[in-house]
Amino acid sequence: MKVQKLILVATCFYLAYTQLVDGQPRNDCQTSCGNVTIEYPFGISQGCYYADDPSFNLTCNKEKLFFRLNLEVISISHSGELRAMNNISYTCYDSQGTLSDEDFYLYRLANVSLSNKNKFTIVGCNAYAYLTTYGIQNYSTGCISGCDSQPAANGGCKGAGCCSTDVSVPSDSNRFRIRSFRLQNTTSVYDFSPCKYAFLAENGTFDFDALRDLKNLRNVTQFPMVLDWSIGNQTCEQVGNASLCGRYNNTCFNSTRGTGYNCKCLKGFEGNPYLSNEHRCLDIDECTSTIHKHNCSDPSTCKNTVGDFYCKCKFGYRLDKTNMSCKRKDFGWATILLGTTIGFLSILLVVSYVQQRMKHRKTAELRQKFFQQNGGGILVQRLSGPGTSNANIQIFTEEGMKTSTNGYDESRILGQGGQGTVYKGILPDNSIVAIKKARLGDTSQVEQFINEVLVLSQINHRNVVKLLGCCLETEVPLLVYEFINSGTLFDHLHGSLFGPSLTWEQRLRIAVEIAGTLAYLHSSASIPIIHRDVKTANILLDENLTAKVADFGASRLIPMNKEQLTTMVQGTLGYLDPEYYNTGMLNEKSDVYSFGVVLMELLSSQKALCFERPLQSKHLVHYIASAMKENRLHEVIDEKVINENNWKEIQEAVGVAMECTRVTGEERPLMTEVAAKLEGLRVTKTKHQWSDQYPGEETENLVGVGILSAQGDTSSTGYDSIKNVASMHVAAGR
Ligand SMILES: *[C@@H]1O[C@H](CO)[C@@H](O)[C@H](O)[C@H]1NC(C)=O
Ligand SMILES: *[C@@H]1O[C@H](CO)[C@@H](O)[C@H](O)[C@H]1NC(C)=O
Ligand SMILES: *[C@@H]1O[C@H](CO)[C@@H](O)[C@H](O)[C@H]1NC(C)=O
Ligand SMILES: *[C@@H]1O[C@H](CO)[C@@H](O)[C@H](O)[C@H]1NC(C)=O
Ligand SMILES: *[C@@H]1O[C@H](CO)[C@@H](O)[C@H](O)[C@H]1NC(C)=O
Ligand SMILES: *[C@@H]1O[C@H](CO)[C@@H](O)[C@H](O)[C@H]1NC(C)=O
Ligand SMILES: *[C@@H]1O[C@H](CO)[C@@H](O)[C@H](O)[C@H]1NC(C)=O
Ligand SMILES: *[C@@H]1O[C@H](CO)[C@@H](O)[C@H](O)[C@H]1NC(C)=O
Ligand SMILES: *[C@@H]1O[C@H](CO)[C@@H](O)[C@H](O)[C@H]1NC(C)=O
Ligand SMILES: *[C@@H]1O[C@H](CO)[C@@H](O)[C@H](O)[C@H]1NC(C)=O
Ligand SMILES: *[C@@H]1O[C@H](CO)[C@@H](O)[C@H](O)[C@H]1NC(C)=O
Ligand SMILES: *[C@@H]1O[C@H](CO)[C@@H](O)[C@H](O)[C@H]1NC(C)=O
Repeated sequence: MKVQKLILVATCFYLAYTQLVDGQPRNDCQTSCGNVTIEYPFGISQGCYYADDPSFNLTCNKEKLFFRLNLEVISISHSGELRAMNNISYTCYDSQGTLSDEDFYLYRLANVSLSNKNKFTIVGCNAYAYLTTYGIQNYSTGCISGCDSQPAANGGCKGAGCCSTDVSVPSDSNRFRIRSFRLQNTTSVYDFSPCKYAFLAENGTFDFDALRDLKNLRNVTQFPMVLDWSIGNQTCEQVGNASLCGRYNNTCFNSTRGTGYNCKCLKGFEGNPYLSNEHRCLDIDECTSTIHKHNCSDPSTCKNTVGDFYCKCKFGYRLDKTNMSCKRKDFGWATILLGTTIGFLSILLVVSYVQQRMKHRKTAELRQKFFQQNGGGILVQRLSGPGTSNANIQIFTEEGMKTSTNGYDESRILGQGGQGTVYKGILPDNSIVAIKKARLGDTSQVEQFINEVLVLSQINHRNVVKLLGCCLETEVPLLVYEFINSGTLFDHLHGSLFGPSLTWEQRLRIAVEIAGTLAYLHSSASIPIIHRDVKTANILLDENLTAKVADFGASRLIPMNKEQLTTMVQGTLGYLDPEYYNTGMLNEKSDVYSFGVVLMELLSSQKALCFERPLQSKHLVHYIASAMKENRLHEVIDEKVINENNWKEIQEAVGVAMECTRVTGEERPLMTEVAAKLEGLRVTKTKHQWSDQYPGEETENLVGVGILSAQGDTSSTGYDSIKNVASMHVAAGR
């Protein structure tokens, strides 16, 4: 265990000190020596300099940094330059003209080469010297300085006591030698120029002073020279992505050495381009940097961006690029015109906005007024009051209604009649509804509407047209019903519809459904309800020919403790209970009478009131009754209804109808009894059919129904006593 740990630690240590991760140095590298900053790829210990090349291995000795043992480094630049001190080569002679002292050097630079930024300089009278470089190509240059007397102090390095020459060494020169010589016997110049000096110095670092330098330049001993370094011996293209740079906002460039590459930060970034750690190229904040200063004349306008910056002038000012200052924009005529136009438009906009708001408020007020006028208040009160069981009424908005009916388009009218107009509406969820709109300016209609809402809110029965909701924001209220698409029973019986006439079975089922519904209204609903306007025009048929009782505008809710109610007589002639008509006393037997008439209509296919019939038989009840009395029932029953084995049922049904239409209410049966009796007929009938095995007939009926529903978009519906030519509304007692 211990051994393992030791090995692990040793391995880590080894890795840390030998491997460069991704060509990068360790984190703990010494970054300076004396006052020289050590920049990667150079380093002074293993793991700190660029591993592939030992020439980046520097030495720090007594606060001095050295390159290759004895070249003192004074600075390292990222762009591929190294500044190092080079010794002065010299030869000195005594007063007799014999050589007294001499020094010259051969510099071996290995992977670093001499830069052409240096100047080769000779100081001394009657002297010459030369520089020889070695590499793939050899190179030599030299210079002669002659003078017999002390040169002028400010003569410059122009051949008298000093000469200098630019060097243009071959790019791979990595060794060089400097030697100096005298030109002739030097005894004549000994007093002021005993030595001949020669050295390389970076252009501009040496300033010749004849009095000072001719005698004692040896005391300086060293001058800074520039050397070029690069990484590897490949170009950027050759090294590809193995390059140290190109990823971290830095980029590669071919070295001036002619071999290898160097890196630099992208414009607007600074840092060490050979690194990917925190010292890598980072965005310069030109606005705060003291080195890379922004050039905005007002520092507060400077805005830094990644890799750049800009000067942002205040509104109304523009940037003058010549001196980077903000100048007030001079507004020309165009600007003034634009400003005025914008101002004018703004005012117009505000005015129209205010107008719109006022209009909006007015509409809202009007809506509220209509809502109250339409009994909205009462309705809400009543709906939320006690005894409501089915207050699932939706309140629709005026806009909603308008769009669903396509702006009350004429093509959407399903029917028109007593209580108003019925439109076909398509709600946003694509469901089809019937929308009933009261006639304008008839307050009694409004009352009936509210009444209908209240009554229907109490009922939930499959044979009653479902009220979905209402809209009270309009001048006249709107009621929204489920859409029943196959017309009214009146249309089916009296022929305003195509298709086969109803069979006896269908008629009986419809009768049972109506009777059942009325029985439910009279006894089963949470508050007994008298429909008051039962008639074929108010019975809707859906695509399955299922009866749906509609139009509860005249209906009355009867409080539990009251058997009878005195009301204004309302109803339709032909169906109106004569007793109720005479006394104004309303009870559920009035509905029984009306149902009797409907049943007779179903049996005879004759209208309740027909002026084409003989005087005594204008009223259907009298017509059937007299036929019964005179034993010619056959003549009055619709022949399409009769078949071989239903005569008995027809007779019984006629009997029920007769009982229902008795003059005295008390003698009429209850609706529950009627429903039961008819249901009984239907059951025996069904049984009969089963035993008789007429499967074909049933199929035929279904086919007939299919045709009917296919043509189901009829022009007339019975959400109201619509298109009922033979019926008249009676509102006696008003
Ligand atoms: C380094 O520091 C010495 C004194 O400590 C100073 O004379 C010399 O100029 C400095 N060199 C640089 C390059 O700053
Ligand atoms: C010069 O660089 C090469 C790699 O490019 C290296 O192998 C060689 O050792 C270097 N020479 C010296 C003297 O550092
Ligand atoms: C780096 O240079 C120093 C001094 O010249 C030398 O002692 C050391 O061995 C060198 N390191 C490598 C890895 O060459
Ligand atoms: C420069 O001169 C010094 C002192 O005489 C000597 O130690 C050093 O090695 C010389 N440098 C070179 C590159 O010869
Ligand atoms: C450069 O000089 C050296 C030493 O004098 C010599 O050996 C070499 O052949 C020369 N190279 C060329 C290309 O002349
Ligand atoms: C140089 O010239 C002086 C006098 O002009 C003479 O005395 C001396 O011997 C000469 N030296 C040499 C080495 O020729
Ligand atoms: C040296 O510097 C002077 C002025 O500073 C410049 O004109 C000249 O071109 C430079 N020479 C070299 C080789 O850089
Ligand atoms: C230069 O050095 C010499 C001896 O090495 C000395 O006599 C002389 O005073 C020095 N000159 C200056 C200007 O420091
Ligand atoms: C580059 O350096 C490597 C290793 O020092 C050497 O093998 C290769 O030949 C050199 N390539 C060129 C083009 O100098
Ligand atoms: C360098 O690029 C080559 C092809 O573009 C790729 O196959 C290789 O993995 C890359 N190497 C590195 C170190 O990204
Ligand atoms: C380049 O610099 C920008 C700004 O500092 C930084 O968001 C981005 O990540 C850098 N890109 C890389 C590759 O480091
Ligand atoms: C580097 O040098 C090569 C060959 O001289 C050249 O093709 C390439 O374009 C250069 N690349 C850059 C970045 O200068």
